[in-house]
Amino acid sequence: MKSISITTAILFSVCLSATAGFCGAKGETIDGKKEFEKHCAMCHPNGGNIVNAQKPLNMQSLKANGVKGVKGIIAKMRKPGPGMTAFDDKTIPNKEAKAIAEYILKTFK
Ligand code: HEC
Repeated sequence: MKSISITTAILFSVCLSATAGFCGAKGETIDGKKEFEKHCAMCHPNGGNIVNAQKPLNMQSLKANGVKGVKGIIAKMRKPGPGMTAFDDKTIPNKEAKAIAEYILKTFK
């Protein structure tokens, strides 16, 4: 029985460390804030933009640049402009991308 509990423990920690989409697919909630901090905050600390100061993540800037709502933000992740890393759905699955986008919209105003 010992080996079973070890397997469970390994699976559990894989689940914790894997990209959240992997486990999120099973209906667990995805923490948009945590995912943002993991993938985006190095260039967008506090919703800013250290690479292109003209393009922070606040409403006004998103609007000015035609980035509309959750879909617009996800589209940006999939196909970013110059200077931003592209995130495909293997790196950030749609559910996770959505959680990040919702976090951005409610946090940086
Ligand atoms: C390597 C640095 C870097 C990383 C990492 C990064 N970005 Fe960006 N981001 C940029 C740059 C540079 C731009 C401006 C690109 C452009 O002209 O479209 C940008 C633009 C954006 C915009 C449009 C902002 C506006 O006002 O037009 C959104 C939305 C955005 N990023 C979201 C994200 C999200 C979500 C993540 C994480 C999944 C992320 N970014 C990760 C550098 C980065």
